[in-house]
Amino acid sequence: MPMNRCTSLAFILTLTVAEALLSPENVTMEAVNTRYVLRWDWDQTHANYTVKFTAGYTYSNEHGEPDKWVCNRTTEKQCDFSFQNLHYLASYKVWVRAEGRNESSCWHLLKFCPEEHASLGPPPHVEVVSGEAMLMVNIAEPVTVYNASMSSIMPLSFRVQYWEKDATHQKSNQSLTATWGTLSPLKPWTEYCLKVCAFSMEYDKTSPFTNKLCVQTRGKKNRLFWKILPGVLICLLLVILPVYVYRNTIKSLCLPPNLPSSIQDPPPAVTPLLQPWEESCTVLAVVAAPTPQCQPEFEQRELPQAQRQDSSGQDSGICSGGEGEESSPEWPAELSEPPTASPQWVTPFSQ
Ligand SMILES: *[C@@H]1O[C@H](CO)[C@@H](O)[C@H](O)[C@H]1NC(C)=O
Ligand SMILES: *[C@@H]1O[C@H](CO)[C@@H](O)[C@H](O)[C@H]1NC(C)=O
Ligand SMILES: *[C@@H]1O[C@H](CO)[C@@H](O)[C@H](O)[C@H]1NC(C)=O
Ligand SMILES: *[C@@H]1O[C@H](CO)[C@@H](O)[C@H](O)[C@H]1NC(C)=O
Ligand SMILES: *[C@@H]1O[C@H](CO)[C@@H](O)[C@H](O)[C@H]1NC(C)=O
Ligand SMILES: *[C@@H]1O[C@H](CO)[C@@H](O)[C@H](O)[C@H]1NC(C)=O
Repeated sequence: MPMNRCTSLAFILTLTVAEALLSPENVTMEAVNTRYVLRWDWDQTHANYTVKFTAGYTYSNEHGEPDKWVCNRTTEKQCDFSFQNLHYLASYKVWVRAEGRNESSCWHLLKFCPEEHASLGPPPHVEVVSGEAMLMVNIAEPVTVYNASMSSIMPLSFRVQYWEKDATHQKSNQSLTATWGTLSPLKPWTEYCLKVCAFSMEYDKTSPFTNKLCVQTRGKKNRLFWKILPGVLICLLLVILPVYVYRNTIKSLCLPPNLPSSIQDPPPAVTPLLQPWEESCTVLAVVAAPTPQCQPEFEQRELPQAQRQDSSGQDSGICSGGEGEESSPEWPAELSEPPTASPQWVTPFSQ
């Protein structure tokens, strides 16, 4: 059987030497994009030692043995021709033979034209961005072994096949001449699946499809939310802003600077003043407009808290000044005093 192959080469010298070894069988070139890998079989039971292989190539119009060696006495049953810079449109003769200790097999010869025999690989990566009732597809082009786009070799287009995930029988196609595009109109809030293949009309090549990718579209509800959002924010602002702008007025109306020392031991008559915050505020706002007048009343109002903090009956420190007036039901009369009375109550703090 090796004889037949050898005669096709008409290489008498090789014939006589090679009779002892079988040629590689099932020789194929696996060619995808510009990755070219030569593979073969060889039955090791024909030899009781490890047989090696040599492979090379010539242009198809050249005669004689290969002059460009790619694999020299390799023990593997494959040889990578990818980085030989084979021209995509050229035609080559690819050679491989088994080599023993003293003998070699006949050359096995294979014709190889990348443009004819190489297939186009699928896009290595597809990105899908969900839009409003549409999907945006971004496709990574198939690349050469040097990571250059295959479109540097042939013009590429892409076909996107897409369908509703729940209606797999109704598939639609969209062709793209660019590496990106949109699928629309689609149903909003619906999960779609898609797969992409690359193709070249000029070179009559179509890649396999990528794995399917499922993405849900977005819809109008989303836009509604974003339309409503500013309104909601403005309403919130309208509520918060006045409170913020008038915070000092509100504070001066409602918050006393300090506790007067005189209220350590308040008389029971004060209790009517221990009213809810809002009520006290309103009363004051109506009755006594000048803020200094407001303060003593609120110092009274703060009383219960002071009592709670000081439940042991000892001086709280704050109240140790002892200069304050005795609290009594008549105290509102003191309100007529000038506001300068307040600093007196503050002084205990500095002790
Ligand atoms: C070649 O391929 C055929 C079919 O796949 C297989 O039966 C045969 O064993 C292969 N030859 C060798 C040497 O492996
Ligand atoms: C291997 O084959 C050679 C002949 O090709 C023979 O002389 C030798 O005895 C064999 N060795 C074994 C281990 O089978
Ligand atoms: C193969 O490699 C050997 C050394 O490993 C070298 O002597 C020989 O010339 C090479 N053959 C070819 C065809 O390159
Ligand atoms: C291989 O060649 C060597 C000399 O180079 C010789 O001694 C040996 O017998 C040869 N073996 C076979 C199997 O022909
Ligand atoms: C191509 O890119 C891959 C990863 O992106 C990298 O691993 C590889 O080394 C690159 N090849 C070349 C020839 O630059
Ligand atoms: C979509 O393209 C595929 C081939 O890729 C074809 O079989 C199918 O009929 C096309 N469908 C439509 C709706 O064009």
